[in-house]
Amino acid sequence: MKKFSVVIAGGGSTYTPGIVMMLLDNLDRFPLRTLKLYDNDGERQAMLGDALDIVMREKAPDIEFSFTTDPEEAFTDVDFCFAHIRTGKYEMREKDEKIPLKHGVLGQETCGPGGIAYGMRSIGDMIEMIDLMEKYSPDCWMLNYSNPAAIVAEACRVLRPNSKVLNICDMPVGTLRRISHIIDKEPQDLEVRYFGLNHFGWWTSIKDKEGNEYLPAIRDYVAENGYLTQKEVDTQHTDASWQDTHKKAKDLLAVDPRFLPNTYLKYYLYPDYVVEHSNPDHTRANEVIAGREKTVFSMAKTIIKNGTSEGCEFEMGAHATFVVDLARAIAFNTHERMLLIVENNGTIANFDDDAMVEVPCIVGSNGPEPLSQGKIPEFQRALMYQQVTVEKLVVEAYIEGSYQKLWQALTLSKTVPSAKVAKEILDDLIEANKGYWPELH
Ligand code: NAD
Ligand code: LMR
Repeated sequence: MKKFSVVIAGGGSTYTPGIVMMLLDNLDRFPLRTLKLYDNDGERQAMLGDALDIVMREKAPDIEFSFTTDPEEAFTDVDFCFAHIRTGKYEMREKDEKIPLKHGVLGQETCGPGGIAYGMRSIGDMIEMIDLMEKYSPDCWMLNYSNPAAIVAEACRVLRPNSKVLNICDMPVGTLRRISHIIDKEPQDLEVRYFGLNHFGWWTSIKDKEGNEYLPAIRDYVAENGYLTQKEVDTQHTDASWQDTHKKAKDLLAVDPRFLPNTYLKYYLYPDYVVEHSNPDHTRANEVIAGREKTVFSMAKTIIKNGTSEGCEFEMGAHATFVVDLARAIAFNTHERMLLIVENNGTIANFDDDAMVEVPCIVGSNGPEPLSQGKIPEFQRALMYQQVTVEKLVVEAYIEGSYQKLWQALTLSKTVPSAKVAKEILDDLIEANKGYWPELH
């Protein structure tokens, strides 16, 4: 079988060790010849890179492993770039979450003003990275799961329409794992229909390979329990705040019991609830810094100190096998069915052609072929149109350096009550994002 060369961009990410362990566990499906890490923060990356160097020498000495901050070294001779960068790191995530809360508006990594702020920071870095990839490895595919995926995907559509970039999200993957557990199946036994935007969608059908429909049974369960399952089956979304989010899905379902909702709809349908249940001094960023970041980096230190990973292994990011499935689909033309963020072009019949939507696609060597989802109801269509327009305005604001458009984006967000509040938040965000955002006029 052919062996591949992969660069993980955002090598210093808390997810990198989990992804590397997952790749090692999947070498029979996706063989590697080279694995590189790339980050623009050399110090942060080196802590993980040194530890992973030990792991790789012990577990897969045949794979050439390295880590670098030099783009030429990183992107030369690579087949796939797995991208999970966070422009501004947790320091800026904390501000994205806390600034809106100061104004009584929810603070979230990808939804509402926080997501808009993060989007404005990420577009430039993502486009630069695509250009570097294309310069040094013109045939390379970027599998991007950096957030905020919706805004990043729209920016790619507008600014790099012909680039080989696929945007994918782990949330539907994690929720499908929960759904399959509810009906005692495995995710790979199921075929779904789904429509929406990233972090903003609905499952309309969950069938097994024989064509039996499970949506009514799952709906009965979710109406009672949300997506909370007895056994923890989703290794990614497990912290206390996430348990609340899984449970809240039952109130999302109540708004339209026909379809199973994406958990992120909580931020748009119940923003008041989210604000009431937020601590403005301790947000998700603080939870991650004290949890995942601390665990991963202290484990790296222990491995480096011991000079071995024996007795102290990084946890495998089992939730992330979707990245291998996607890479395999392209590499081996497997025609895997996966949810991806793609340009609509009629996939949702009564929605704008130029909207980036999240829908099931068949993925092969030429990329994704979206599967028609027919017409969607007016309620969802209207919500989606409002949100996709927010995302489009952010990208336009970034390109044009337009204060006006960014103010409109914030005003239009369903999470923000008025143009006045939108302006107050925007002015604070501009101050906090100096050096990251383009100058607005
Ligand atoms: P993190 O801050 O731990 O890691 C991000 C890394 O990206 C940092 O080391 C940072 O220095 C680096 N970086 C920032 N800008 C860069 C650039 N221009 N070029 C190269 N590297 C750059 O963040 P995290 O919590 O691990 O999340 C990383 C990203 O993955 C986020 O966008 C997050 O939303 C997304 N994400 C991934 C998954 C997954 O399953 N892998 C799941 C959820 C979210
Ligand atoms: C993370 O940091 O885990 C996010 O990317 C998603 C979340 O759980 O907030």
